[in-house]
Amino acid sequence: MPRARPAAEVPGAAPIRTLAQLRAAENACRRCPLYRDATRAVPGEGARRARVMLVGEQPGDQEDLAGKPFVGPAGRMLDKALAEAGIDRKLAFVTNAVKHFKHEERGRRRLHKRPNAYEIEQCRWWLEIERRIVAPEAIVALGATAVRSVFGRTLAIARTRGRRLRLDDGTAGFVTVHPSFLLRLPDAESRQRAYRAFVADLRLVARMLRGSTA
Ligand code: URA
Repeated sequence: MPRARPAAEVPGAAPIRTLAQLRAAENACRRCPLYRDATRAVPGEGARRARVMLVGEQPGDQEDLAGKPFVGPAGRMLDKALAEAGIDRKLAFVTNAVKHFKHEERGRRRLHKRPNAYEIEQCRWWLEIERRIVAPEAIVALGATAVRSVFGRTLAIARTRGRRLRLDDGTAGFVTVHPSFLLRLPDAESRQRAYRAFVADLRLVARMLRGSTA
């Protein structure tokens, strides 16, 4: 059973108890400069009492425009892998370590830029509140930025994936690659191998949720 968590509190502001309140607060966020160039904040989305939370890096170009996480190419890859692993995205909560799209403009294109340690740290505030509201049993960090945010430090993905870890509050934590990593691989064979490993990592989470791993 998920542990009961207190209502999320923001000093000096009304308590944030619902995902709708959280969405509004994230959109008013000025904790780092990333809000200036983004269209909007992209809040996490999914079941209020989801048993699993998936954390990505930051919204991409399409997510920034849609205001929803993982709706572009990386999202389609994630959806496919989740379905294969037996995790229903509708029953999960999908979010990002950083809520605004960090990018640079090149002509008419907006090129993704990796969030830095300061931006990740400032945005952990929102992830913590999401965690308190949703209270998932398992949190899956997709890629290095998410690992840093969820675990509060860097971990080598190659050495930590495929295992059930424990977060400081007792929640089960899992580490795997970011779905965009698969999209960037140059040849079909390495893409297929990396995809199989990604699905295997997600299957471990699905097994835990079914109660068949200790
Ligand atoms: N990549 C992410 O990490 N998150 C998204 O929402 C989209 C792409």
